[in-house]
Amino acid sequence: MENLDWKCLPFGYMKTDYNIRCVFKNGKWGKLEVSSSEYIDIHIAATGLHYGQEAFEGLKAYMGKDGKVRLFRWEENAKRMLSSANGIKMAAVPIEMFKEALFKVIQLNKKFIPPYGSGATLYIRPLLYGSGAEVGVKPASEYTFLVFVTPVGPYFKEGVKPVNMLICRDVDRAAPYGTGIYKVGGNYAASLRAIITAHEGGYANTIFLDAKEKKYIDECGPANFFGIKDNTYITPKSESILNSVTNMSLIEIAESMGMKTERRPVEVEELSSFSETGACGTAAVISPISKIVDPEKNMIYEYCKNGEPGQLTMKLYNRLVAIQNGDVPDPFGWVTIVE
Ligand SMILES: Cc1ncc(COP(=O)(O)O)c(C=O)c1O
Repeated sequence: MENLDWKCLPFGYMKTDYNIRCVFKNGKWGKLEVSSSEYIDIHIAATGLHYGQEAFEGLKAYMGKDGKVRLFRWEENAKRMLSSANGIKMAAVPIEMFKEALFKVIQLNKKFIPPYGSGATLYIRPLLYGSGAEVGVKPASEYTFLVFVTPVGPYFKEGVKPVNMLICRDVDRAAPYGTGIYKVGGNYAASLRAIITAHEGGYANTIFLDAKEKKYIDECGPANFFGIKDNTYITPKSESILNSVTNMSLIEIAESMGMKTERRPVEVEELSSFSETGACGTAAVISPISKIVDPEKNMIYEYCKNGEPGQLTMKLYNRLVAIQNGDVPDPFGWVTIVE
């Protein structure tokens, strides 16, 4: 795409040429179909619309300096979509079918893959929803799986920039035995009130606490939380958070760099003992946190006092991004080249 200003792309939707679709009917999946429409025809009684029978994924394709297109740990997204489907009783998308759809949609939209060095990437959005009609509350017998792509700009245009977070105690994203571990739309709908409150207050996002005790940190908006102290990378263990692919990768990278790692419940009060904190996920990789405000407890936790991200945060960030872009060898076997 010659006339696209890759460096100025927002993190938002842009039309591309094709998407992939597939329907599960009479107990089996049909063939993957290519569509050039941005719209779907949906039954007015589809369970995806009424009862939130819907799950999605988010991953990126990266153009390397060598002109090769890389996918990062796509199997983890495929497995997470299987788990989400299981969690809300939808038909499972087989891993091979998931892979075929990803490769196909990337190849068909090759001209939308942002060039190496632009900071932009091709965001891939697989979606699965109940498309069969039901009126009683029960799982549909028909499902639709689709995958679209859209080029997205870098999350931070002027390099990695620390952000402020608000602890929100009057909104819960997910309950301990609810659907927080699945990537289903309902969790995001439940988080919107808190996110808007955070944005209106000038914060980048919300930190959700555990819904039962309001004592432990759960997640940072659509990202996992981590804190660093004494060369140890610490991230919450919880029954109600999404298992982030970025987070699990950072844990392995931290260990390979000689850091210790802990995945365990993290009390809010522990925030005062971290030297660096951050939010991690596919979109931003890492958003270093400069300030966390807990208005109800009258507490402010500050990091990055010089306005710069912490040293260990940047080491982790640079290493992960270098692997994703293919700038350094991938000792973990995380990257797949899309031929
Ligand atoms: C609620 C939530 N937590 C964490 C993440 C980060 O996960 P990942 O690193 O797999 O993108 C996401 C984004 O997918 C998310 O929506």
